[in-house]
Amino acid sequence: MRTQVGIVGAGPAGLLLAHLLHLQGVESVVLERRDRAYVERRVRAGVLEHGTVQTLREAGVGKRMDAQGLVHTGTELRFGLRSHRIDFTALTGRGIMVYGQQEVVKDLIAARLDAGGDVRFEIEDVALAGLDPQEARIEFVEDGARHVLDCDFVIGTDGFHGVSRSYLPDLVSYERSYPFAWLGVLADAPPSSHELIYARHANGFALHSMRSPSVTRMYLQVSPDEDLSEWPDDRIWAELHARLADDTGFALTEGPLLDKGITSMRSVVVTPMQHGRLFLAGDAAHIVPPTGAKGMNLAVADVRLLSRALGGYYAAGRDDLLAAYTQTALRRVWRATHFSWWMTSMLHRSPDGDAFGEQLALAQLDYVVSSTAMATSLAENYTGLPYAQGWSYR
Ligand code: APR
Ligand code: PHB
Repeated sequence: MRTQVGIVGAGPAGLLLAHLLHLQGVESVVLERRDRAYVERRVRAGVLEHGTVQTLREAGVGKRMDAQGLVHTGTELRFGLRSHRIDFTALTGRGIMVYGQQEVVKDLIAARLDAGGDVRFEIEDVALAGLDPQEARIEFVEDGARHVLDCDFVIGTDGFHGVSRSYLPDLVSYERSYPFAWLGVLADAPPSSHELIYARHANGFALHSMRSPSVTRMYLQVSPDEDLSEWPDDRIWAELHARLADDTGFALTEGPLLDKGITSMRSVVVTPMQHGRLFLAGDAAHIVPPTGAKGMNLAVADVRLLSRALGGYYAAGRDDLLAAYTQTALRRVWRATHFSWWMTSMLHRSPDGDAFGEQLALAQLDYVVSSTAMATSLAENYTGLPYAQGWSYR
């Protein structure tokens, strides 16, 4: 078996890359460990930056997103019982789209299969071999039989727990762990606000988000080793009511909880993102805490770069874009890593009662909601900095 680009992992990164390559006439094979239903149902974040929305539209996979996604022009920051709106559109001319990651994944799988793309599920024992400067090979097991796929390039888009990253020698990893996690719930209830609410409260952080006009997505800061069985529905609702309260009598609409899960919080960035013919993209190379919803958006930014670099290679024999990939991608990755670390520190309560840190976070929140410069900084990072032209974000 042979293909031009072998892609390990069918998350948003791998699937979008395969589609962007297809649009440039480059063929690929996507190998995914899980089954299709699992990948399509996995509940993840749901905020698309302005550039992610544009990229999905340009790739021809934006139809359902444009019909069902919710356009938001701002967000709310809530602390000390007061709500403050950050008007993204007034500050930056951009907005965001609220549309679940698993919906993006469904749209990408449908687009790949409609175009005759080769996406294989339930693939076991992926191993990479022959990653020398000239060629690359993926070995895997499908339906019990061992196969070898020869490729010009292998792309590791197999997420944070994937195998691809382990094939890069001399990897440097930068890491930060946080002393908390998020308990996320999906409620069969209409959202209680038409925008997202990021709340800092004495009991900890809470987030009100949504998936549709009838489904609310919410999160509570909990401890990293939290046991889900200690969170019956009524305890979850009591905490959400307490942490999302404001001084205008904000009312949270309840409904049956459809899904509950714990998300750990970590920042990790590895470098380089390339070795020979192997490239990493998305969560395989970096993860961010979910505050600020940068994970999928970074994955999209990585594969935009990679698809252009590989397109340039096949169309014009260029290898400069491929050679620059790590440096170009990491610039945006570190910006988003800083932003999500900053949002996380500003909005969460330190479990060890760090009184100094508490005052700093409150001072920072006060600054963001009272300074146009700070509000604009939050808004431009949240809606997504423009894809760099040269080295300027202007
Ligand atoms: N072989 C084949 N597939 C694998 C392997 C493996 N050894 N290991 C992992 N995978 C698959 C996973 O099952 C998953 O479907 O790779 C895929 C990786 O997808 P994601 O984890 O969604 O990562 P990515 O596409 O980079 O998207 C980043 O996902 O985790 C969120 O918040 C993150 O929104 C961000 C987005
Ligand atoms: C979500 O809707 O799941 C979501 C929204 C914003 C975040 C994180 C997650 O910062």
